[in-house]
Amino acid sequence: MTVVKKRRLKLKKKNFCIFIICIILIIFTITYSTNLIIKAFNKPENNIKEEKNDILVEAKKLNYYIKQNEERYKSYMKKNPNFSISKVVTDVNIGLDHDYYTNDKIAENLNKSYILVNKYNYLKNDYIPDNLEIISKQYALENMQLVDYAKEAFEEMAKAAKKENLSIIAMSAYRSYDYQVTLYNSYVKTDGKDIADTYSGRPGYSEHQTGLAVDVYNGKENYTNFENTEEFNWMQENAHKYGFILRFPKDKTKETGYQYESWHYRYVGKNIAEYIKNNNISYEEYYVQNIS
Ligand code: DAL
Ligand code: ZN
Repeated sequence: MTVVKKRRLKLKKKNFCIFIICIILIIFTITYSTNLIIKAFNKPENNIKEEKNDILVEAKKLNYYIKQNEERYKSYMKKNPNFSISKVVTDVNIGLDHDYYTNDKIAENLNKSYILVNKYNYLKNDYIPDNLEIISKQYALENMQLVDYAKEAFEEMAKAAKKENLSIIAMSAYRSYDYQVTLYNSYVKTDGKDIADTYSGRPGYSEHQTGLAVDVYNGKENYTNFENTEEFNWMQENAHKYGFILRFPKDKTKETGYQYESWHYRYVGKNIAEYIKNNNISYEEYYVQNIS
């Protein structure tokens, strides 16, 4: 081999080595940068996951947290990032992450004073509460019935109001499923389904079928004006002492599913009524936090 050839071969070898080193460097750089990019993209996702887990840790501390609802809590939280954790858990337990009348079930606690009937909990068409009794005509229109203990409490309340020259008169109390069919259909005919749904329970979904709900007026003015009467003020101050709550308050229309009704009262017993009044919550909130 000539000297020139030897030099060329050496140079070739050197170039090959440089080439290999370059390739290794390029591969290394690409791998490293890709990793960095992947990490950068993954970071926010991980943060969100961690954040969600933090929230779930907080949620789990609530004694009304329900494990089966976990996925629903997460997605409701995502849709309502400003809601507190207790509101998320409460709303989902009520069912508010689903439209009214969807994801509904047969009401539990039949014949109990603390039964919940609403747009997510219904009564079958053959449900008639035990021990219905007619309210004394002194305090009611003809043939108004309530469950015995609610009727006693109502009469006691109306009697106390009467002592102050106020007149609390029951104008609608227990309503059978069939009666609610007639009533609801008539409202739909007049106002259309969407509007009727804001003020009337669909058959099976009306609390009046429990025999624990009563609509009142003062015997003079239309019940829709009850809010502007002295009797209403008296009820605001005193109804809870007899175990009744204003069932559809102004600021709880989302929770209850109904517009404000100053005339509709529900018997829940003195302790629960007092708690609800003091804490300014709806019966739905009370129920999912304390009973269900
Ligand atoms: N008016 C109430 C919501 C009912 O129909 O039960
Ligand atoms: Zn009513």
